[in-house]
Amino acid sequence: YTAEINLNDLDKGTYPYYMAKEMDEQPAVIRKIIQSYQNEAGNLEIDQAIVAKLTASDRIYIVACGTSYNAGWVGKQLLETLTHIPTEVHLASEFGHNMPLLTKKPFFIFLSQSGETADSRQVLVKVNDMNYPALTLTNVAGSTLSREAEFTLLLHAGPEIAVASTKAYTAQIAVLAILAEVVGKTVGLSEENNIIHDLGIVASSMESILSEKEQIEKLATDYLSTTRNAFYIGRGIDYYVAMEASLKLKEVSYVQTEGFAAGELKHGTIALIEEGTPVIAVITDERIAGHTRGNVQEVHARGAHTIVIVMEGLEQAGDQFILPKVNPLLSPLVSVVPTQLLAYYTSLHRGNDVDKPRNLAKSVTVE
Ligand code: G6P
Repeated sequence: YTAEINLNDLDKGTYPYYMAKEMDEQPAVIRKIIQSYQNEAGNLEIDQAIVAKLTASDRIYIVACGTSYNAGWVGKQLLETLTHIPTEVHLASEFGHNMPLLTKKPFFIFLSQSGETADSRQVLVKVNDMNYPALTLTNVAGSTLSREAEFTLLLHAGPEIAVASTKAYTAQIAVLAILAEVVGKTVGLSEENNIIHDLGIVASSMESILSEKEQIEKLATDYLSTTRNAFYIGRGIDYYVAMEASLKLKEVSYVQTEGFAAGELKHGTIALIEEGTPVIAVITDERIAGHTRGNVQEVHARGAHTIVIVMEGLEQAGDQFILPKVNPLLSPLVSVVPTQLLAYYTSLHRGNDVDKPRNLAKSVTVE
């Protein structure tokens, strides 16, 4: 069962928490995004002015905070692969005060679910002062970042109420994928790609993962409900998902957790592995699967409880969760879903207020 999405729907309905509802809405959001960016001929369409400025730029700077920042890393992968424009990802709170050297023709992308985050806005103000083109990807039409940036693309995810962002993360990646494909095709790249088709497969794959909630709840109960800490590991695009997976887990469960580049573990963090420490590996990229497997064995040999979330076709006996196969570039859209559910169930089992974690606010309007 997957929730229908009604863009004005502020009601939890039969869900105990908004976070549960918003995770369930993700397949519908992906379909809504496909529809919203498709023209009558069935092709993807993005404002020509945005495409023109992007194709003329020599570097893309993505600026964001929190979950949006994590979506930015996946965006970098998509943009560089499909458009060949070098792309950097920056924390807004750092960028504003320690600006890197910019290239001659920078193009800025601000990712912000709320469109109100003060850290991101202070960078946008500077970018506008310097007269560089800026695009805001936001869920809120008319928000500050949308009004103040030259361009806006909407996420079409419907209101996100839970403090921990879920559907806005996947919506940001989907819109970035569409943007990357449109720009890529404009410059004669990524011709063989068919993102509309591949996002359709993603939506169905998300549905199938969301129908296996009991399996993930059991993993949360068995491995995470009483642990003090936990680690997520991955390489490449899976590392970016590990960053978001660990942010989600720490936000709602208060388990101390980090997302690590799997190969970097041995250079320090492995000292934290004790008997029973949960280490969750995300493996979706066949070129590096073997390497991450090696890291799983390293921590397993030191007593870690390992959980492997793996793309169909790469699985091995004993893996805990198998993801339906999708276009590898879009894998974060499916691999993140079990990690959102792990965070949710861990929070629930620990008796936390899932939708309103302590010390956090949905939108932070102070620097
Ligand atoms: C707050 C929220 C995070 C969110 C971040 C960025 O800290 O608690 O969940 O990711 O702001 O928000 P934005 O609306 O700019 O995406």
